[in-house]
Amino acid sequence: MAKGGAGKLRLKVLGVGSSMNKDSFSTETLKIVLGMVNQNNADTKLLNLNNTPLPIYNHKESTEMINVNQAVELVNWADAIILATPDYHGSMSGSLKNFLDYFWSEFAGKTFGYICASHEKGLTVMDQMRTVIRQCYGWSLPYGISINSSQDFNEKREITNERLLERLNYIARDLVVYGGLIHEQFKKDLESTINNSYAVRYR
Ligand SMILES: Cc1cc2nc3c(=O)[nH]c(=O)nc-3n(C[C@H](O)[C@H](O)[C@H](O)COP(=O)(O)O)c2cc1C
Repeated sequence: MAKGGAGKLRLKVLGVGSSMNKDSFSTETLKIVLGMVNQNNADTKLLNLNNTPLPIYNHKESTEMINVNQAVELVNWADAIILATPDYHGSMSGSLKNFLDYFWSEFAGKTFGYICASHEKGLTVMDQMRTVIRQCYGWSLPYGISINSSQDFNEKREITNERLLERLNYIARDLVVYGGLIHEQFKKDLESTINNSYAVRYR
């Protein structure tokens, strides 16, 4: 975490947008949530895979690529991460899965929040993102944000669903608060000499 005002530590939150649609509702919602995260005294950055595409993961060759290096740098910078995806066939976008394939131990000790644009709540999508993150020893917030572009937005692409706006505020606040607690504890465990935590394997 970076130092904030009055010696307070500021959480660093990365948002990853993964729709290939330049007018994406999931990426737009992600940007709104990142703004709310800022209001909770955290720093934010955005990795939009639409304008920073990653080559299909290949463990031998891809690490030389400039966009890959940028993604690696951003993930290493982040203390917590928000993943945003459209619902494609009940699953996450291929670009998001490909992004996730590049990482593993980097996700340990980080808390993840999820946003999905879907016409069907995107519950299976959310589950699949959680599965990947659990497999990499990341932590997940217990709820995600599902948006329905035709019901939650007006023609000017403004959110009209008050309940959704409330949930966006929840996730921004909870990610900063709970993500900060997990991050701090993980850092302490890494730096300590205790030997009875999963953090031991990341020293
Ligand atoms: C290939 C493809 C598959 C899709 N599959 C589903 C689906 O299974 N369920 C659903 O509710 N919407 C599905 N959709 C619709 C998108 O999830 C929906 O339009 C969403 O708002 C797109 O998000 P975006 O605006 O962030 O790109 C699909 C769209 C595409 C292009």
